[in-house]
Amino acid sequence: MNAVAPLFSAPTQSFEIRPFNAALGAEIVGIDLARPLNDADFARVHRAHLDHGVLVFRDQQLTPEQHIAFSRRFGELQIHVLRQFLLAGHPEIFIISNVIENGQPVGLGDAGKFWHSDLSYKDIPSLGSMLYAQELPAEGGDTLFASQQAAYDTLPAEVKKLLEGKRAAHSYVARYNDEVFAGVQRPTLTAEQLAQVKPAIHPVVRTHPETGRKGLFVNENFTTHILDLPADESRDLLKELYTHSARPEFIYRHQWQANDLVFWDNRALIHLATGCPSHLRRRMHRTTIQGDVPF
Ligand code: OGA
Ligand code: MN
Repeated sequence: MNAVAPLFSAPTQSFEIRPFNAALGAEIVGIDLARPLNDADFARVHRAHLDHGVLVFRDQQLTPEQHIAFSRRFGELQIHVLRQFLLAGHPEIFIISNVIENGQPVGLGDAGKFWHSDLSYKDIPSLGSMLYAQELPAEGGDTLFASQQAAYDTLPAEVKKLLEGKRAAHSYVARYNDEVFAGVQRPTLTAEQLAQVKPAIHPVVRTHPETGRKGLFVNENFTTHILDLPADESRDLLKELYTHSARPEFIYRHQWQANDLVFWDNRALIHLATGCPSHLRRRMHRTTIQGDVPF
């Protein structure tokens, strides 16, 4: 027997896409992500994500299942190597939090202290991440996003030339034990976890698989070196690229409000947690959508 096509698709939601006055980012106003999106609505959201890099959905009331279901519209979900911080019953959700309960951190407390693209250390990095605010501090806790396409576009021609065909190595443990983490509880990785985070090699400049735009794809959190360059040249070049890649004009600063869900494109931008005072509680739920092999 043939499968029966659904008789009704979800009703159209009337929502607006309002770009921010910044290099990237837009707010989607008037959408309810708890309801399934029909194909036309989904196509508008998808297009806005490609056009703006960061989408902000305010005031969403989502169960973990609904958060996961919306994320799944964009692709397979990636399960984070730090299993101890996955939401019970929902391993697709990774908890980012500075909260300690009964002496145990409930989530990764120091995620994003350096500029990074999520999972750039994997052979198949992430398409995008959806971070959903659960508990926010009264001060601090903003997240910064920097367009790496704007960064690439504004590189001097000779640097663009130099980067042509160059590849870089990325490693999850590149800065895992960095001194900035002194005093925070960072779990020691087991041999099994270490085996799951072998270094990956990616082009320094990647072409976005959906828009065709070029963007820088190195970051100070996970990139260890550029291949086929003497170590000092690689270090100096990366340092210059990191400085350039986070210039203020490429940045959108997100100030979190209760029940925000923010969906960004890891293929097009890098992001940074600015952090909050350690006595204030902050807890977020993240899903991470798998992308493709960078080229
Ligand atoms: C992340 C991340 C930054 C923040 O969730 O991937 O980097 O401000 N978060 O929580
Ligand atoms: Mn991140």
